[in-house]
Amino acid sequence: MRTKGKIVVLILLTVTIAFLHFLVPTDRHTFHILHIILRKLYFLPPVMAAVWFGLRGAVHVTLSISVLFSFHAILDWPENYMEQANQWGELVSFWAVGLVAGLLFQRERALLRDLLRANEETLLGLVSALDMKEHNTNLHSQRVRKYTLLLADKFGFDETGKRAIGFGALLHDVGKIAVPDEILLKPGTLTDEEQKVMRNHPSAGYGIVNRIEFLREAAEIVHAHHERFDGSGYPRGLKGEDIPLGARLFAVVDVYDALTSARPYRPAMSHEEALIEIKKGSSRHFDPKAVDAFLAIPREELNTA
Ligand SMILES: [Fe+2]
Repeated sequence: MRTKGKIVVLILLTVTIAFLHFLVPTDRHTFHILHIILRKLYFLPPVMAAVWFGLRGAVHVTLSISVLFSFHAILDWPENYMEQANQWGELVSFWAVGLVAGLLFQRERALLRDLLRANEETLLGLVSALDMKEHNTNLHSQRVRKYTLLLADKFGFDETGKRAIGFGALLHDVGKIAVPDEILLKPGTLTDEEQKVMRNHPSAGYGIVNRIEFLREAAEIVHAHHERFDGSGYPRGLKGEDIPLGARLFAVVDVYDALTSARPYRPAMSHEEALIEIKKGSSRHFDPKAVDAFLAIPREELNTA
């Protein structure tokens, strides 16, 4: 659920509990039980806010509850100081639960962030080593991840989707670890047999990445990063929208980065020359929507000479 949806749920839940609690009388036993149950339900929104938004969320919701609950304590029990003391005691327990849950989930979120960062740094180390071997620079995978994320922004991916696309772009060539150096680093044209070995790298990469649970979605991009929009790619010959969108976006970016990087057998193309090549590949190699979105990225956001 998105942030706005979570806020709406919290507001609706809090207002509904407060409204029913205020309306249900206490002067018959059956009603009184219901009234007390509704009072206990006030614990729900602060805990939910803590889970979704950490300490800040829990404090905001508990504050709102305190205002609504205070109306009830003052208006429903005029001059009954014993009962009002009981209500104020309950109010303090809302704060105790809200603050403890808020602090715990805040800590959990921080630990999760550290874990994600550690995972990312480990993967960066791995792909940097691979890049260094094949491209003599450790920046190729990081650049294509950055450009793919710029494209993903234009296609409305949420944070989880963007994280998967980012990891997919970063790890796209991890399967080349299974390609022998004499083929991977061969300066000349590959023989048919060598090409077959080389073309196995998306499937090999998929086999590696798909074993890691939090990278399952990214694995689909690794598997499909050499597919072409017209179905002439490999390894599965997927066509059009059968290719995962992340892989369709990545394909444009990968070719752009390859064209604008120098190779031993040719100099780097300029940004403008590379865009002409990308346009030529629209609808054949690339999804035309991905090409249009890429062409709309401001020049200064792409680190080319
Ligand atoms: Fe590749």
